[in-house]
Amino acid sequence: MFVRTFSGAIVGIDAVRVTVEVNRDGGGLGLFLVGLPDNAVRESEQRIRAAFGNAGLRMTMKKIVVNLAPADLRKEGAAFDLPIAVGILAATEQVADDMLGETMLAGELSLDGTLRPVRGVLPLAVRARQDGLRRIVVPAENAAEAAVVEGLETIGAHTLREVVDFLGGERTIPPTQPPASASAEAADRYAEDFADVKGQARAKRALEIAAAGGHNVLMIGAPGSGKTMLARRLPTILPPLTVAEALETTKIHSVAGKLGVAAGLLSRRPFRAPHHTTSQAALIGGGQSPRPGEVSLAHNGVLFLDELPEFGRSVLEVLRQPMEDKRVTVSRARYSVEYPANFALIASMNPCPCGYYNHPDKECTCPPGSVQRYMGRISGPLMDRIDLHIEVTPLSPAELTAERVEEPSAAIRERVIRAREVQRERFREMPGVHTNAMMNTRMLRACCRLDADALGLLERAMERLGLSARAYDRILKVARTIADLEGSEGVAAAHVGEAIGYRSLDRESWGR
Ligand SMILES: Nc1ncnc2c1ncn2[C@@H]1O[C@H](COP(=O)(O)OP(=O)(O)O)[C@@H](O)[C@H]1O
Ligand SMILES: [Mg+2]
Repeated sequence: MFVRTFSGAIVGIDAVRVTVEVNRDGGGLGLFLVGLPDNAVRESEQRIRAAFGNAGLRMTMKKIVVNLAPADLRKEGAAFDLPIAVGILAATEQVADDMLGETMLAGELSLDGTLRPVRGVLPLAVRARQDGLRRIVVPAENAAEAAVVEGLETIGAHTLREVVDFLGGERTIPPTQPPASASAEAADRYAEDFADVKGQARAKRALEIAAAGGHNVLMIGAPGSGKTMLARRLPTILPPLTVAEALETTKIHSVAGKLGVAAGLLSRRPFRAPHHTTSQAALIGGGQSPRPGEVSLAHNGVLFLDELPEFGRSVLEVLRQPMEDKRVTVSRARYSVEYPANFALIASMNPCPCGYYNHPDKECTCPPGSVQRYMGRISGPLMDRIDLHIEVTPLSPAELTAERVEEPSAAIRERVIRAREVQRERFREMPGVHTNAMMNTRMLRACCRLDADALGLLERAMERLGLSARAYDRILKVARTIADLEGSEGVAAAHVGEAIGYRSLDRESWGR
């Protein structure tokens, strides 16, 4: 007897449908798995045999051939256990096959017949829906994730036995309801708020500009000056996730196996803060079977690299491609996949090894030249992609204890959203460009025309402060964002002047 079940393989952050064909025929003995299965899929046989035994199901004595099609697609992981097991059971008439033509199946079997959660269930559910299937049957722990997809019935099961009984009509399993999507209000409620940060008006202003224009930021300041505190609050002033962004980011987290049991669509922008001991693979993606890294988990959100010079040079080097292309290609001997990686970078660092260069009342004890050497640890190409340098100076004890009401994130965010709307209008005709930070040189020339005063100021500043040529474009972009925050069509001298202030590391005098 010949039967077919449906499942899917993950490619990048999407799923491709895989048909599991099972044929039982007269000649010979044993189970044969064909169609490019990797080790985990091949080991499937052992898990299935054990699970059958423990669930009171029979493995036939006849020859069974299982083919995973299309054959040229790499299939990996244990998610094929369930579709293969159900296929064998149907081919041996231990389970009814009526529903199989409209059902996608995915799940790992443990030896005792319970179902274990697998990665990538959300893209599988999206695929099932696109292919017009009626339902998806997954491990109970993955059910909330699949239920996000509308127009598809999600059946969460705990054991193989439950699946068999469900398909045979002997057990009803109520479809999992889509997790209540966080109300817009709840999604906006972060544990942190800019109102927690006393003073630091200049740093807050710079972060507002960064959020408004999509600019990357480097914060430099002594230990304890509040850099980490400020960075953690950046997501609270970014515009809300759109539904499309939420779906894409959630798919990445699904493929990485990072969604919790109750997970619905992510309602907030991700904030990822990998430690400086993080490996290249963890940052960029990779591993035995491909998984998204931190740069992709931060997609549509924030990647925070705290204590930037502590990261390995080679680790920072790999950030180049995603920062340039907003996506990352992970190539290994056995595969090559692409993941989205469009994040806002916020990095922090001490100004020098002892940490107190430029400190208002502590003495820097570093030998001459060490500030430049410390900066030199960060490669030019990375520095080249940072628009704003923010010098964070610690507050005095009196300032820290002063009772002052600070502006809440919600108020800052409103201005950010307005400035983003201006940009959306500006870049309407340019697909793939949403923010000022994404402008190329040609767009810069067209969108950042300076009046005579502004131009004069910029030219004088370039000369007097010894600003590098690369600073020039950065200043224009940031000035454009400052003008947008103000609702100003033109870019004036005041905007350029403020933007120049955020390029302190370009000054010849820095660190001397
Ligand atoms: N402006 C501030 N307002 C309120 N608390 C602050 C401020 N600056 C520093 N702190 C306090 O100091 C602690 C250390 O700040 P942190 O962000 O870790 O500094 P850094 O990362 O620059 O070393 C914070 O957790 C916070 O309690
Ligand atoms: Mg810190």
